[in-house]
Amino acid sequence: MDKLIISGGGPIDGEIRISGSKNSALPILAATLLSETPMCIGNMPHLNDITTMLALLRSMGLSVTLNEKMSVEIDANTIREYTAPYDLVKTMRASILVLGPMLARYGEANVSFPGGCAIGSRPVDIHLRGLEAMGAEIDVDEGYIRARCKGGLKGAHFFMDTVTVGGTENLLMAAVLAEGKTVLENAAREPEIVDLANCLQAMGAQIEGVGTATLTIHGVKSLKGCRYDVMPDRIETGTYLTAAAATRGRVKLKDTREDILESVLLKLEEAGAFINTGKDWIELDMKGNRPKAVSLKTAPYPAFPTDMQAQFTAMNAVSEGMGTVIETIFENRLIQIHELNRMGANIKLEGNTAIITGVERLKAAPVMATDLRASASLVIAALVADGDTVVDRIYHIDRGYECIEEKMQLLGANIRRVPG
Ligand code: UD1
Repeated sequence: MDKLIISGGGPIDGEIRISGSKNSALPILAATLLSETPMCIGNMPHLNDITTMLALLRSMGLSVTLNEKMSVEIDANTIREYTAPYDLVKTMRASILVLGPMLARYGEANVSFPGGCAIGSRPVDIHLRGLEAMGAEIDVDEGYIRARCKGGLKGAHFFMDTVTVGGTENLLMAAVLAEGKTVLENAAREPEIVDLANCLQAMGAQIEGVGTATLTIHGVKSLKGCRYDVMPDRIETGTYLTAAAATRGRVKLKDTREDILESVLLKLEEAGAFINTGKDWIELDMKGNRPKAVSLKTAPYPAFPTDMQAQFTAMNAVSEGMGTVIETIFENRLIQIHELNRMGANIKLEGNTAIITGVERLKAAPVMATDLRASASLVIAALVADGDTVVDRIYHIDRGYECIEEKMQLLGANIRRVPG
């Protein structure tokens, strides 16, 4: 297993390009199942999760051609299998996103039941109940969700008990080909859902209320292919901004957007960062100052994203003062604090709240990545630690951060990958 060795040092400083969004690319790739003609998706990030989704589509028989510029052409007409097998689903829970589109277009879908993961139990009950409301018959058999709809899906009025990103995406992709009108209430409003809806509309779908908590979808008979570029990755953007803030540095990020990161940018300003933005760039400068600890609570968009919580916990660990971080989305998502404490942080855990008292510097230690965003927090902590930190199990990082060591090196960090 590869490891990262990071020698903590001074501030990071420089310019890099932000990659396409992983969490937007995954549902958009699943949406290609809905198209009657080939689709071309551009600005795809080069990440393990994307490779897994492409492998899944290929395993079902779709024709997938990836070019060196990370554009992918997909033709769903060659589909042979309506199954997402255990081997692929177990490596990536987002495989569940093929359920809605496969059922809507082909009337049949078998998807291995995704288990829990390090950050929590992560059920998919809302995905399944929404599809049932649209007329699907669903059984769970030998670890597989087996869904059928003989006469096609029918529009429905469905209220989601919990705001769920994946649930909203799955049901939206099912509803675009369902007969009649579907209303999805208490829908998630994350920018990635807007990106998916924009792509579906470019394919001919009729969706009202995009970006709001009520999505109204008028089903159409068929969808055609289009060319679509996925949006920039707001979590990658936020991670590099937070790394610059924690190290008292400066960073300019290109090919990104500030309008999808408001809650994060406000918190960074509260921490003392000077932020400038343009149409497609964001610059953060700490002017050499130590950040001030901030308090935050995660919640669905537009509130503070759970996917940025770990990085802020690491920044708070070396900030001036005390901050509390409350995690409300996933039950076990503060696990990174144990590794941060091993590096000399002063963090107490009370239920779903981390109480962080900043220390001047951390100390290097061997640490282990436990999930994607927790790993990013360990990289940030290592940048502000004295000595060489070895981060093990970095396959978690490779799921979500394109070329992290190259990008960090461009910013002047002393980081290298050693094959395990
Ligand atoms: C997506 C993101 C992930 C992010 C999360 C929350 C992708 C590929 N992943 O994950 O990075 O951290 O949104 O912003 O886009 N829930 C239920 N029943 C369901 C579905 C969800 O109870 O049927 C609960 C979950 O356990 C969790 C909460 O709803 O507590 C939110 O989960 P959800 O928004 O569905 O997360 P994902 O789509 O899996």
